[in-house]
Amino acid sequence: MYFGTDYYPEHWVYPYAGTPEEPESRWQRDAELMVAAGINVVRMGEFAWGLYEPEEGKYDFDWMKRAMDVMANAGIQVMLGTPTAAPPIWLARKHPEILPLDQNGLARHEGTRKAYCMNSSVYWDYCKKIITELATALGKHPQLIAWQIDNGLGGHETESSFNEETRRDWHAWLQAKYETVERLNEFMGTRFWTQIVTRFEDVPMPMKSPTVYNPSLLLDWMRFSSDTIVAFVRMQADLLHELTPGIPVTNNLRALTRCFDHFDVADVLDFVGIDSNATIKTKSAENACGMDMLRSLKKANIKTPGDDGGFWVVEQKANNVNWQEVNSLVRPGVVRLFTYQAISRGATGVLYFLWRQARIGSEKFYGGVLTHDGRGENRVYKEISHIGDEIKLLGPILQGTSVAAEACILFSHENEWAMEHGPQPNRYFNQREHNQLFYNALHDRNIPVDFARPTEDLSRYKLVIAPSLKLLAGGEADLLKLYVQNGGTLVSTFHTGLVDEHHIAPDNGYPHDLTDLFGMEVLEFDPLPPGEENHLTFKGAFPTSHLHPAKLWCDLIEPKECQILATYAKDFYAGRPALTMNTFGLGKAIYIGTMSHQHFYYDLIVWLRQLCNLFPLLKVPDTVEVSLRQKDDTRIYFLLNHQNSPVRIQFYKPMHDFLTGTVLQGNYDLPPHGVLVLDERMAQKQGPAA
Ligand code: GLA
Repeated sequence: MYFGTDYYPEHWVYPYAGTPEEPESRWQRDAELMVAAGINVVRMGEFAWGLYEPEEGKYDFDWMKRAMDVMANAGIQVMLGTPTAAPPIWLARKHPEILPLDQNGLARHEGTRKAYCMNSSVYWDYCKKIITELATALGKHPQLIAWQIDNGLGGHETESSFNEETRRDWHAWLQAKYETVERLNEFMGTRFWTQIVTRFEDVPMPMKSPTVYNPSLLLDWMRFSSDTIVAFVRMQADLLHELTPGIPVTNNLRALTRCFDHFDVADVLDFVGIDSNATIKTKSAENACGMDMLRSLKKANIKTPGDDGGFWVVEQKANNVNWQEVNSLVRPGVVRLFTYQAISRGATGVLYFLWRQARIGSEKFYGGVLTHDGRGENRVYKEISHIGDEIKLLGPILQGTSVAAEACILFSHENEWAMEHGPQPNRYFNQREHNQLFYNALHDRNIPVDFARPTEDLSRYKLVIAPSLKLLAGGEADLLKLYVQNGGTLVSTFHTGLVDEHHIAPDNGYPHDLTDLFGMEVLEFDPLPPGEENHLTFKGAFPTSHLHPAKLWCDLIEPKECQILATYAKDFYAGRPALTMNTFGLGKAIYIGTMSHQHFYYDLIVWLRQLCNLFPLLKVPDTVEVSLRQKDDTRIYFLLNHQNSPVRIQFYKPMHDFLTGTVLQGNYDLPPHGVLVLDERMAQKQGPAA
């Protein structure tokens, strides 16, 4: 298990620390404090280009080598960033064409970070040069165990640029995709408002325009911009693999909030690295959902340092952030709780952002492990040292364990892009909120969840939930059918199969290519404004704990072979199906034609659990989050109390707690923000404590 922090040695030299005689002397003290806190890895250097190469072609990596040597003496490993997220000022002054142009064609200027166009060949060449020099100078340092490529991909809304070189690449991308301009016109539907082109070079970039672009063009633009980011990452990954074979590469991804295909980026990386922004207001299930999404980006061919598998949190917030309206302190125990949440969901490395509150720059009031004074007497340092002690105990036990899920939620960026751009049937519909309703219901019943693209092999899952796949490619529909045919249970919803991969609506009924799977057809759909509701009337054995509303969207379903589980209660479609189930091959295809409140999804999961033989990990009160890491017959449970008050848990069988070494049986009060890491097998061997 790696336990670490993001360290900026360049911030801690004279005059900000150290002395004129020994400007770097503080580094030693930092390393001592790190060791005392149980830290065994640091990430460094992701913004250091301007110090590595203060003038073009004049390199200085010695200072970083000295910092790595200090870490070596302390037994701390190092992850180095490639510094391409912060090009030096001289580069932008010499080559202003690298600056990214926005939708208005205006440059976003140098002087901060991320001011580069990822289609610029000049920028690519400079990146290759600095990475080659860096890897040559430091790549063989014994402390180096991983690379982080760039930093915060797509951050500060830099996913797309509108430079002339972007235009060139865009046209080449379109040509590779469509081959002939006739095919492009056909699939993009350029007859609409007769925006027909006769040459690829005439296809516009979606710059500021009087009104909305054709969604087909926008969708391709998003794919192209995403491919640009993937190519930029691949260029760096290939170079690093060549220069430092065996050293894995990663990036610090966010919970799928940025506009590029995170699955594609993860394919290029050796392991997934993430930023976790868990702060005081974070809802535990939302954070868990983000972690599960990110873990799911890479399910095979994972190569982490130490071959532990899983993923790393390369930036786990240590305390308050600085970008909220009000940046309150993270309460005692909460950082520990979120650290365990990450570990419980598969993290094999957790690094806190950042080691010490910087005295300089725009992030100086961002909470760190150390406060500005650097003494190591502060609350957060003590808390993190305590976690460090625990991790030393847990590391060997967790070795080789991972999270296994039998339920899966489908997610695709292309689908989300199709819902975000252009006019929509209901602007109040939000795909992430819809996903979260299903996720919460599984999470709160302690059923582990993976996420997957619809193109993945789903056969390992007993239950697949596919909320609102508006964009459904022909191949994707076939894979869903195959999954059900072979015995899977699929749940789909309204807003499914309304367009194909070209953003063309079907002429053979909704959901596109799936009417046979669901044994019904959606003839029309009625989007409802917020506050206006219909209701569901249930038939048969579906458990209903509440009166369930139908909100935001009501599909008008024409049943064919399907069984009707619920109907609408009112309006001109009263009595028509709202919830259906169809047997298809060996499996079941369930369709929910509307959106409801959270209670409905809880009821749904209770029903589906029985239908699919899914079992909750442990029976505990709803407010306790439970996750499991396992390997062969080792099963390690994590119980997290996200409440500010104690929760009483009843253990029917003895459970051994790794953190305290005690055996728990009968009633136990899990304290506010408390954590338990339990094992059933060892408890049985040891028997209850006296
Ligand atoms: C991201 C970046 C960090 C830092 C934090 C601040 O995580 O990677 O460099 O700027 O944001 O929130």
